[in-house]
Amino acid sequence: MSAKPMTLQELPADLDRERLPRHVAAIMDGNGRWAKGRGLPRIVGHQRGVDTLKELLRCCKDWGIAALTVYAFSTENWGRPLDEVNFLMMLFERVLRQQLDELIAEEVKIRFVGNLASLPESLQQEIERSMEITRHNTSIQFTVATNYGGRQEIVDACRNIAQQVKEGKLDPEAIDTNLFDRHLYTSDIGDPDLLVRTSGEMRVSNFLLWQIAYSEIYVTPTLWPDFDRAEFHRALCAYQQRNRRFGKV
Ligand code: IPE
Ligand code: IPE
Ligand code: MG
Repeated sequence: MSAKPMTLQELPADLDRERLPRHVAAIMDGNGRWAKGRGLPRIVGHQRGVDTLKELLRCCKDWGIAALTVYAFSTENWGRPLDEVNFLMMLFERVLRQQLDELIAEEVKIRFVGNLASLPESLQQEIERSMEITRHNTSIQFTVATNYGGRQEIVDACRNIAQQVKEGKLDPEAIDTNLFDRHLYTSDIGDPDLLVRTSGEMRVSNFLLWQIAYSEIYVTPTLWPDFDRAEFHRALCAYQQRNRRFGKV
């Protein structure tokens, strides 16, 4: 008798539910190269990248991963051609508007982190609306880093802390890593257990600099639009082979 076929929702048999990462972060890189390799404009790669993200979010939810944080736009990405930047802003807004009902239905809690005040006004409104409507959802915590820079985040935290000291509300002696954590944009999500970067670049490009101190890093040459469930499965298998020591023996 043949085995029952695995449905998409089921965790693959070679993954150990007890040893899955709680929080996965992803640097979604390689959209431009994906498009270029097919003789298409870069923006087509960004469009395809959205499909990859939707699938990854669903997969994380199906497999019981509590938090997914993705890098959508860095503080350095403003340096790209204006056409591409404008397209991305329009894409973020359109996708958010189109997907909101589904996020609600799937009980996803969406959050955006980064310097949101510098984004186009209409995008800011969609962001506000989506965060407000989904804030009590509990199936998965989905965080999108948009106009995000890790150094800027650390500077912002320092500024907040310094202000509290200046106002006499905080004793400098009370500043420790736990307090610092609470001043980061990610204070309610915790640190990623697994950081995935697609497209083969061996760098972190200013993403979650503080939070990845002890994250396991997985780099794949696969370009983001091709990063499917099977690829994510491979990343999780690799993660489960790792021996996380946190500096101990
Ligand atoms: C990542 O893909 C998406 C964003 C940075 C918005 P890229 O656009 O960086 O694609 P490559 O790295 O040029 O191939
Ligand atoms: C990192 O990718 C930023 C995002 C994925 C949003 P980049 O393509 O901007 O990074 P670099 O330029 O290769 O370091
Ligand atoms: Mg890139």
